[in-house]
Amino acid sequence: MKIKLLYIAVAHFFLQCKYNIITLIKYRKFKKFIAAWLRLKCSYLLCSAYTFSKLFLINNNSQDIYLYGETPLLTMDYIAKQANITSRDHVYEIGAGAGFTCIWLHEIIGCKVTAIEQVPKFCNILVKNCSRLTNLEVICNDFLLVDYSKASVIYLYGSNLDKNTICKLIDLLLTTKANTTIITVSWQLLSFIDSNKLFTLEKKLEVKYDWGTADVYIQKKI
Ligand SMILES: C[S@@+](CC[C@H](N)C(=O)[O-])C[C@H]1O[C@@H](n2cnc3c(N)ncnc32)[C@H](O)[C@@H]1O
Repeated sequence: MKIKLLYIAVAHFFLQCKYNIITLIKYRKFKKFIAAWLRLKCSYLLCSAYTFSKLFLINNNSQDIYLYGETPLLTMDYIAKQANITSRDHVYEIGAGAGFTCIWLHEIIGCKVTAIEQVPKFCNILVKNCSRLTNLEVICNDFLLVDYSKASVIYLYGSNLDKNTICKLIDLLLTTKANTTIITVSWQLLSFIDSNKLFTLEKKLEVKYDWGTADVYIQKKI
């Protein structure tokens, strides 16, 4: 058992190293992105984002303390292309985590980004490291208490959310503007509502996350 866990940890470490090298090579021309990304990475050298999330969830008596995960930036790149996200968009990232995808969207796509995250440590580190990035706003709050009416794109990687939370969130997403793009990972909006007159499914993608392949749904608010 111990050897198996050690194997998983070592494999994960090397996978992360590989992703980091690819990220550095692929985006080397985006100096501002690389600087922000490295600053953020260094903030998690001693204590990983997974640990911060776990400690927060333990303190809040959460039933599931392993909610955290990160969208690989190459996957975000593919999703952004498929969803036609441009610099004119205002992307709301629901549950932004450490914020790597937020700085990617802000610096590589050049769009306005609003990061919504419940873990104060993530928000503080993101604000501290990215204060120079204009058009990147961080809201440290429960995502069920946020106004989404200004969003043109919403990205939500919350594969483990419970049905009750998803239904409350969908009620909130009904307040978004017509034509807002809503991207969800692992589940689609239409599976949780009776009417098919509120959202349309534009595309279903199969993409890679750290733990395997996931279905990503690109939907539009009608
Ligand atoms: C799977 S992680 C995704 C991180 C990031 N979006 C990414 O793709 O790399 C989900 C994040 O949602 C946050 N989260 C979960 N429930 C939340 C809530 N009710 N309000 C705000 N954030 C929440 C968690 O703290 C976690 O950081």
